[in-house]
Amino acid sequence: MTKVAVWCRHKEDDVIAIGRHIPWNVPSDTNFFIDMVQEKNVVMGRLTYEALPNRTIPNCKIFILTSNYAYKPSDKENHFVVDDINFFKDFAEDLYIAGGRGVYEEFLTKGNKLLPDIVMDCVYEGKMQSGLKGEKIAISACISILQKKYIKVAQFMKDDVQRNMYVKRGEFVDQTVMKNLLTLMQK
Ligand SMILES: NC(=O)c1ccc[n+]([C@@H]2O[C@H](COP(=O)([O-])OP(=O)(O)OC[C@H]3O[C@@H](n4cnc5c(N)ncnc54)[C@H](OP(=O)(O)O)[C@@H]3O)[C@@H](O)[C@H]2O)c1
Repeated sequence: MTKVAVWCRHKEDDVIAIGRHIPWNVPSDTNFFIDMVQEKNVVMGRLTYEALPNRTIPNCKIFILTSNYAYKPSDKENHFVVDDINFFKDFAEDLYIAGGRGVYEEFLTKGNKLLPDIVMDCVYEGKMQSGLKGEKIAISACISILQKKYIKVAQFMKDDVQRNMYVKRGEFVDQTVMKNLLTLMQK
């Protein structure tokens, strides 16, 4: 089924976070992400999960990647622990890949069965918040792969964020998923 990677990166340096913080606050971009994953399956690394408000996203199933299989999610019914990314190779439903850096890189580099069909590349063009402590987490390696293996099919600007939709070059992509994303990205 369709795999969709979703991120918002800073235009100049591909940064998605500084330490535990996303260094901008664009409510429409947060809402765009929430809208995309409503009623969907979402996979994310443990640190991204722990950075979510209340460790949850309402109305979706979250798959948390961690090497600690004893990890206790905040919601036992809707959140699941996964310790091997290969679990997603033959995943039967649509899957939204929500980072962070290592998770994006693994999906983009570990073979065709994991490679996202669609990438929603949101690019923040404003200034980053200053004074935040921690490592700058950049996804430049993913952007190089995006440019080689994908083709841009749509773009829309909203509140300092350019929303770009990319699809895998030369491959069939589910039209229903694409249409839904196109509608949301123009909201
Ligand atoms: N701007 C954006 O679009 C965006 C998107 C995503 C995240 N973020 C931000 O980025 C920050 C965190 O990102 P991050 O890259 O440092 O961390 P992350 O990818 O969210 O989490 C890393 C952790 O995930 C687990 N993990 C990753 N791959 C795994 C695998 N193949 N098998 C098992 N476990 C695996 C490991 O957990 P264990 O240590 O438990 O083994 C690893 O330490 C947060 O602040 C978040 O808000 C921003």
